[in-house]
Amino acid sequence: MKDKTSLEPTGAHAFLFPMPTVLVGTEVEGKANYMTAAWCTPACAAPPMIAVAVNHIRHTALGIDENKAFSINVPSVRQVIETDYCGIASGAKVDKTKMFTSFYGTFKAPMARECPINIECSLHSSVDLGSHELYIGQVESVFVDKACSTEFGPDPVRIEPIIYLKSKYYHMGHFLADAFSEGKKHAEK
Ligand SMILES: Cc1cc2nc3c(=O)[nH]c(=O)nc-3n(C[C@H](O)[C@H](O)[C@H](O)COP(=O)(O)O)c2cc1C
Repeated sequence: MKDKTSLEPTGAHAFLFPMPTVLVGTEVEGKANYMTAAWCTPACAAPPMIAVAVNHIRHTALGIDENKAFSINVPSVRQVIETDYCGIASGAKVDKTKMFTSFYGTFKAPMARECPINIECSLHSSVDLGSHELYIGQVESVFVDKACSTEFGPDPVRIEPIIYLKSKYYHMGHFLADAFSEGKKHAEK
């Protein structure tokens, strides 16, 4: 196709635009640890599941394997410094316990109070894909800051999540259109 270019060298990359920025909370040898992750996705609706790809060398992998649990925390642009730090520094070398105020649900998976959304997961299963282990977590509980909630649930405009794209962070843009609705205009054309 003349209007496309293949990415070199192999043309095969795990590219997906845009990506969320989340923090994976784990407890490793009794210490809370937070790792920045962009390779995170909802994986199933019923039962609710979230999957995150964690490189085998991450300290985080030890915590998930140890406790069979992890948390997914959605930081706001207000936490961009702490979020990026957790993606530069490894818990194997530095203590990230104090990066956030940890709170717990039922499982040994610390959640970061400063992040507007906290999702507690028990480990459902994991798949070794090569460099990364895909951890699939069953969602056990979800906490949302009251200040970021409306009568319709979590409000992304108030949450102000951090969008990750090619080594840069972006602030979410403006509201565009209603999903599951805008496309109907196509039929009306
Ligand atoms: C924006 C961003 C996204 C990242 N996404 C991932 C990811 O999805 N999976 C992963 O294994 N590492 C990812 N990393 C790298 C880890 O966050 C980084 O190696 C971190 O220091 C690991 O911490 P830990 O050793 O305490 O687990 C990302 C880093 C940044 C800055």
